[in-house]
Parts: sequence; C-alpha cells; structure tokens
Amino acid sequence: MCPIIPLPVTFTPLDGSFSLDSRTVIVVSPQTKGVGELLRGRIKTATGLSLKFDSSADGKGIVLKIAPGLSRLGDEGYRLEVDADGIIIQAAKPAGIFYGMQSLLQLFPASIYGPAKTKANWSAPACIVEDHPRFKWRGGHLDVGRHFMPVPDVMRFIDLLAMHKMNTFHWHLTEDQGWRIEIKQYPKLTAIGSKRTNTMTNYSPATYTGKPHEGFYTQAQIREIVKYAAARFVTIVPEIEMPGHATAAIAAYPELGNSGIQLPVATTWGVIDTVLNTEPSTIKFMQNVLDEVIQLFPGQFIHIGGDECPKKEWKESKAAQDRIASLGLKGEHDLQSWFIRQMDQHLTSRGRRLIGWSEILEGGLAPGAGLMVWLGNEGAMEAVRSGHDVVMAQTTHTYFDFYQSRDTANEPKAIGGFLPLEKVYEYEPILPEMTPEQGKHVMGCQFQIWTEYIGDFKKVEYMAFPRACALSEVAWSRRSDRDFASFNERLGPHLSRLEASGVNFRKP
Ligand code: ACM
Repeated sequence: MCPIIPLPVTFTPLDGSFSLDSRTVIVVSPQTKGVGELLRGRIKTATGLSLKFDSSADGKGIVLKIAPGLSRLGDEGYRLEVDADGIIIQAAKPAGIFYGMQSLLQLFPASIYGPAKTKANWSAPACIVEDHPRFKWRGGHLDVGRHFMPVPDVMRFIDLLAMHKMNTFHWHLTEDQGWRIEIKQYPKLTAIGSKRTNTMTNYSPATYTGKPHEGFYTQAQIREIVKYAAARFVTIVPEIEMPGHATAAIAAYPELGNSGIQLPVATTWGVIDTVLNTEPSTIKFMQNVLDEVIQLFPGQFIHIGGDECPKKEWKESKAAQDRIASLGLKGEHDLQSWFIRQMDQHLTSRGRRLIGWSEILEGGLAPGAGLMVWLGNEGAMEAVRSGHDVVMAQTTHTYFDFYQSRDTANEPKAIGGFLPLEKVYEYEPILPEMTPEQGKHVMGCQFQIWTEYIGDFKKVEYMAFPRACALSEVAWSRRSDRDFASFNERLGPHLSRLEASGVNFRKP
C-alpha cells in the first residue's frame, strides 16, 4: 500500500529497503542545497545522525538532483527512487525536490518527525514514486485578527502546510478586532489597532473573558516569516481587509470611518456595520498600506478582503451618497465595486494581482482580479465565465472553524456548523457545470481557520487536523484516484507522524 498523504500520482513498490546510517551522505547541488539542509536538519533532530553533504554521487547517499528532463512533471513534480543502495530525488525545479523530500520522509518510521533522538530502524521501503499536483493553489488560511498567534506558531503552521505539500498560506492580518501588521507610515494601526479590551467567548447569550488581548508582527518579523515560508516553497498571501471588517483601523484613525467618532477596537464577533468611508484620503491611505505590504510579500496575489461590507453607513452618509452621484454609480454595491477597483488598479500598476472574497463580485469584478469563493457556486460561475481565476474556499467544505462532530457537547467550542472529515474529502473544486475551459480558471482550494473561538495554536491544530490532510489530497491528488477508504487506511499511519510532530490533532 502507498503510505503517502497526499496520494501521489504513481507509487510502485519494489523489493528491499534503504537504511540510513552514519555513512549516508546527502548529495546536493547549489540549487538543491536548501532542501538538503532541511532534510539534514530533520534527520539530525530525529535520529541524532549528522549526515555529511557531498557533491559527487558515489557515496551511499540521498541524491537531490535537478533534472530538466523531468519538466513534463511541472514545476512542483518529482521522481523519487528508493532502493537498497540509495535514494534519488529528481525534479525540474527545487520545489519538486522539496515535495520529493516530503514523500521520502513519509517512507521512514513516523518518529522521523519526532523531536528526540529516537532509536529506530531508519529504513524506507524500496519504491518508485512519480508525482505532480493537480492544482497550483493548495492553501491554508489563518485568521490572526480575532486571535493573535505568535511568530513560532505561524512558522509551525507553515511547516504543517508544507508537510502536506500545500504551497499557499493565506494570512488574514487585519480585522474589526485587531490590526496585526506593522505599517511604518501609520503607527497607530498597531499602537491602537492591535489591542482590544475584551474577548467574546459566546455570541448569544454574550459572554466575555474580561481580559485584554493584543499582538502584532513587526515588519522585521514578517520578513523572517516570508523567508521561512519561501525555504519551504510556501507563498504567503497577505490579507488586508477593506472596506468592511476594518473597525480596528478606524479605531486607530477615526478619519477613515463614516461617523468621525472615536470607536474602540471591536470586542464582539459578527458582521459589524462600521466600514471605511470612500474619501480620496481613505483610498490613498489604504493604497499606502498596500505599498508597504507589497514591499514585504513578494507573491503575485494581495488579498483585500472585500467580504461582509454592510451598506448601512454609506446609505446614511451624505459624503458617500455624493460620491455615488458624482461617479455616476448605481448605488452602494457599485460604490463597493468602485472602492475595490481603486485597489485593483493600484496593485496592477505595481505588477501584482488583487484577490478578494465572493462579495467583490457585487457591481462587477475588477479586470484581472481573482475571486476567493466562500459563498455559493453562482459567484464562481460568474467569475470563470468572464475569464477570472478563482480559489475555492466554500463554507460547506473548507471552513475548519466548524464542528468536526455532531456530538458538540464533547467538542471544544466551535463557531457552529458541521464539517466532518469525509465531507472535506468529498470536496470537488471544479464544479460539474464548468466547461473544461472554465475549469482551468480554478486555481485550487484552501481551508480556513477563523479564530473567533480559537484562542491558541493548540486549538488551531485541533481544528485543522486531520481535516487539512483530507484537503491536501483534494488539492494535490488526481480526481480519479480519490477514494475515502484508501485515504482512511493511510490516515492511521499518518496520524502517527502528526503525533511524532507534536500536533494536537482530533482523534477520529
Ligand atoms: C468570510 O467568511 N467572511 C469570508
């Protein structure tokens, strides 16, 4: 049986096995040294063996080799061969070498993921694996606005994504309840916006911790995290929420709001009526914020939120109504669309692409923008029909803040819903009503961890795993190979890997 999650395209078992020992060398080239160092570090931590690097292929070794001839497997595909004499991972690009290494680790005993110098027979079964991903966007989202997660936790999240061959970390950095990214031009965003006085522990009836909550990432920390992610072939998509979910920003700079009144950073959950105004100075402010964000994050996409922007304040605001009239817009939905378009033009002029949640469709999608679909399928269809790229992130199958069991009394508090492992596994990002051409606009899928009721990283792990294992297979493995019984069989040993990694997963 193939032991690997997500299931590779081909796995051919052979006779025999390879054993690691102190004479094993890792053969690297300048292009594969980075992955070699990660592999060396993992082996050292788990086994105590200090493997040497070698640049010739004659040692009894693990060879990491760029092979341009394997470009048929794409930028992330790889070929892994294990026999008694050695291991060779080949790929057209370093990302493929990295994913080959991830598959290789899963061939060793689970304690290869462990923290201690474990005694074990460090052998891997002989086999040949040829593999490449189905989708190019394989992601996990983490909301650090509702609850701040310290830098080591964010790095651990990235490690866990990478272990599952996921390549996109959607970092939800700003919210009504907290602004978590240092912006040099606007220091009050964090000085004021990163702190709140209280935290809700239940929505209705409302209960609270009675304790303040705060935290933000400095730009230096963010650079460190971006570098950490890049070494693991994870691209970070930063999200700066606008024009809704921006109460923390408005608390810091009341001139961004519609009332001008000094508001506190929000302490209750839900959709809040407070939204940004549409003054030229506010547009400029948010574009300036995005300029600093662009400097920090090298990826193509910048997420601007765009979801859940109530139109109440704009309906009641003379300035907003005057803007609708002077721009010749049809109403508040058009005004939202106009707002998003100002950001889209700005990002495009800087060589980046905007992505936003389903609601950025209201009043028409900006040209070039990507859509992150969390609501119904109609939005996805509208987007792909007009040639826009989409990421599938629907509540029904990817909201990992939902309960994992119907027996909610015996689960830690969740926001609601019910999303068991099997249902995640059933997710199909390409809709049956899409033509093959439209299906090509589905970049992939991702899971979401909204943290209203997730106060620390142990609980993030509990909500994410093993559901993220299932989603990794949706994102990576071929549609025709997907089979829950096969996944479930492989999941048992995989949970031992998570256990060795110290992950607080939910036991099925
Ligand atoms: C969302 O869940 N409001 C994107």
